[in-house]
Amino acid sequence: MSTPTDGPPVRPAGRSSTPHIDPKGVEIAETILLPGDPLRAKFIAETFLDDARCFNEVRNMLGFTGTYRGRPVSVMGTGMGIPSISLYTHELIHDFGVKNLVRIGSCGALQEGMELYDIVIAQGASTDSAYVRQFDLPGTFAPLSSYRLLEKAKRAADQRGLRAHVGNVLSSDIFYNADSEVNDRWRRMGVLAVEMESAGLFVNAAAAGVDALAIFTVSDQLITHAATTPEERQSAFTGMMEIALELV
Ligand code: HPA
Repeated sequence: MSTPTDGPPVRPAGRSSTPHIDPKGVEIAETILLPGDPLRAKFIAETFLDDARCFNEVRNMLGFTGTYRGRPVSVMGTGMGIPSISLYTHELIHDFGVKNLVRIGSCGALQEGMELYDIVIAQGASTDSAYVRQFDLPGTFAPLSSYRLLEKAKRAADQRGLRAHVGNVLSSDIFYNADSEVNDRWRRMGVLAVEMESAGLFVNAAAAGVDALAIFTVSDQLITHAATTPEERQSAFTGMMEIALELV
């Protein structure tokens, strides 16, 4: 029996199904790519993976396992926001033994000189979310990505000549913020970009001792208000995918 001081409920790896993931016997690989949109997961599986099989359809949060250059890899949607990515990654880590979790998504750039389609690799994720409070730490925890994955991803970006900014991102619970100046305060602290999930992922990974990273394409420039269309985003994410697949 777990007590409140035992930490989050941890079930043994290798479970056959959880409340949100029912793989029906299809394996989930130790390395998983995590776009927010489940249809993006399907597109990635169909475009980049060999022999992809669907491992989850619960709530249409599609997940697939296949191979990339002969190595097993999974890809699954996470939904939007820290509550959604946190519950899926908790189950992937604790029930299915996933060890490397790579979020791939879009972000809003907060700094001058950052352009649409630039790549951002999160070294850490600041947040306005209360998610980490469950661990009852006597201070402010800094959710960081895995240095091992970060270094590999930056090298892959450099080798391809892709412009990749590495640093702090903001994982915000609020897309439509009533405080119209809040982004300026994060910008002044050097935060590169805003998105809505990575801090939950990094906290879960830290608590479980596994590796996580987040890689983004800039879809909005929040200083100049330049923005991409959904169609443009679809084609622009190829560079980010090439980096993520190097981690497999
Ligand atoms: N805010 C939050 N998440 C985002 C944004 C944004 O402006 N752009 C892309 N993802």
